[in-house]
Amino acid sequence: MKTSENTMLVTGGGSGIGRELARRFNALGNTVIVVGRRLETLEATIAGRRNMHAMVLDVEDPEAITALADRVVAEYPSLNVLINNAGIMRREDLTRTRDLHDSEQTVVTNLLGPIRLTNALTDHLVNQPDAAIVNVSSGLAFVPLSSTPTYNATKAALHSYTVSLREQLKGKIEVIELAPPAVHTELNPASRPAHAMPLDEFIDEVMALFRGQPTPREILVEQVNFLRWAERDGHFDQALEMLNAH
Ligand SMILES: NC(=O)c1ccc[n+]([C@@H]2O[C@H](COP(=O)([O-])OP(=O)(O)OC[C@H]3O[C@@H](n4cnc5c(N)ncnc54)[C@H](OP(=O)(O)O)[C@@H]3O)[C@@H](O)[C@H]2O)c1
Repeated sequence: MKTSENTMLVTGGGSGIGRELARRFNALGNTVIVVGRRLETLEATIAGRRNMHAMVLDVEDPEAITALADRVVAEYPSLNVLINNAGIMRREDLTRTRDLHDSEQTVVTNLLGPIRLTNALTDHLVNQPDAAIVNVSSGLAFVPLSSTPTYNATKAALHSYTVSLREQLKGKIEVIELAPPAVHTELNPASRPAHAMPLDEFIDEVMALFRGQPTPREILVEQVNFLRWAERDGHFDQALEMLNAH
């Protein structure tokens, strides 16, 4: 993937990983549009920076996704990179019958959100030079944290979907998966382990990997490899136990 002179759309760009990715890519000479539900946090992301723009989008709303995609393509016809980063993480107690609102919202945001936004932009992106889609999954796609079951499941599904997307779009759009380990952000601080990476350190490593030519199809910082390759390397049970030991 090219790392400069792109026009990029970043979901969840008002905080955490999305905000830092948006700012770092902008600093490398990219035009970046950040989207999310809260305009004030998006405006804080872009404040004082050139070639950064903010638009409100709730990725739970399919009509809003279509409208946003149409608007972005009309206002920024050079759009060539989509980063599906927005996500939520909720704790869920599976030991009793419960209200499934959190489960359903997690599936709609973390899985249907990227599927719908990618779909809305595919006809545009396939005709763009140097087009790329980056889907942000998680190390928990590969070894689950049992207290956040639907979250893990959506990330495992997003991993699988991304593999199919890459195969179908081969030669047309570069498809990259970014699977972070635990990182210090606003995402469910109650589930964050003590060894979570500082955000700056994580983004430094991620940007170095993005600069690799060709860009790896999976952006994996060193700390996530233990989870990413647990099954292949024969330490899945050990990883599951370590992750879930409280
Ligand atoms: N931090 C970690 O440890 C970690 C580890 C692995 C993977 N990840 C993944 O990294 C991505 C970014 O998470 P983060 O850690 O940076 O957490 P974060 O700071 O909470 O950021 C999540 C972003 O998603 C946006 N978002 C949530 N629901 C949305 C919706 N319905 N429509 C539009 N935007 C929405 C939020 O903005 P609004 O609230 O303003 O909408 C927020 O800016 C997520 O996909 C997460 O699963 C994080």
